Amino acid sequence: MKQYIEPFSHATEIGKALEKSILLTTKRGDEVNTMTIGWGFLGIMWGKPMFMALVRESRYTKQFLDENGEFTINVPLGTDEKEILAYCGTRSGRDVDKIKDMKLTLEEPDVISVPGIREFPLTLECRTVYKQGMEEAGIPQSVLDRHYPVKTIKRDIHTLYYGEILSSYIIS
Ligand SMILES: Cc1cc2nc3c(=O)[nH]c(=O)nc-3n(C[C@H](O)[C@H](O)[C@H](O)COP(=O)(O)O)c2cc1C
Repeated sequence: MKQYIEPFSHATEIGKALEKSILLTTKRGDEVNTMTIGWGFLGIMWGKPMFMALVRESRYTKQFLDENGEFTINVPLGTDEKEILAYCGTRSGRDVDKIKDMKLTLEEPDVISVPGIREFPLTLECRTVYKQGMEEAGIPQSVLDRHYPVKTIKRDIHTLYYGEILSSYIIS
């Protein structure tokens, strides 16, 4: 069952959970992949509620998002999901099936093609309406040194995915 919510009435919960990290789930064809995120924004753009996620070039998730811009944001509620968040934040969907390995239960979505995750019940169904790669020139040197060290030939820069929130609910 889904209890429908206003995303902004849960802004504090989403923000507090983000400090510990949450999941971002994507789908390409029949393949579902999820990854841990610790950065993101809930806000309004073009008069619409949005969740903006930052995804690095190297993530398997980025390939999914570039083919199918839809994603779900999955927030735990009152449970400590450290083990799942650690696994999904260190393993790539290129090498393992994180959904299967962590025994996550997928929940049929309302509007988009990407499912929610029962164990992370607060769900935002999002569709990318704008994306932009971060401009290295605009990033302070101290941040570049700390967060974007040069790896082999280039930095692993983030792309910002602005997802319009099309449905939001708590799975129960
Ligand atoms: C606490 C935590 C927060 C993270 N936040 C982000 C993030 O906001 N953006 C990002 O691109 N990667 C982030 N990562 C790293 C990805 O979750 C990790 O590289 C993951 O293995 C990528 O999976 P994929 O290759 O299946 O997409 C985070 C990892 C952890 C442990």
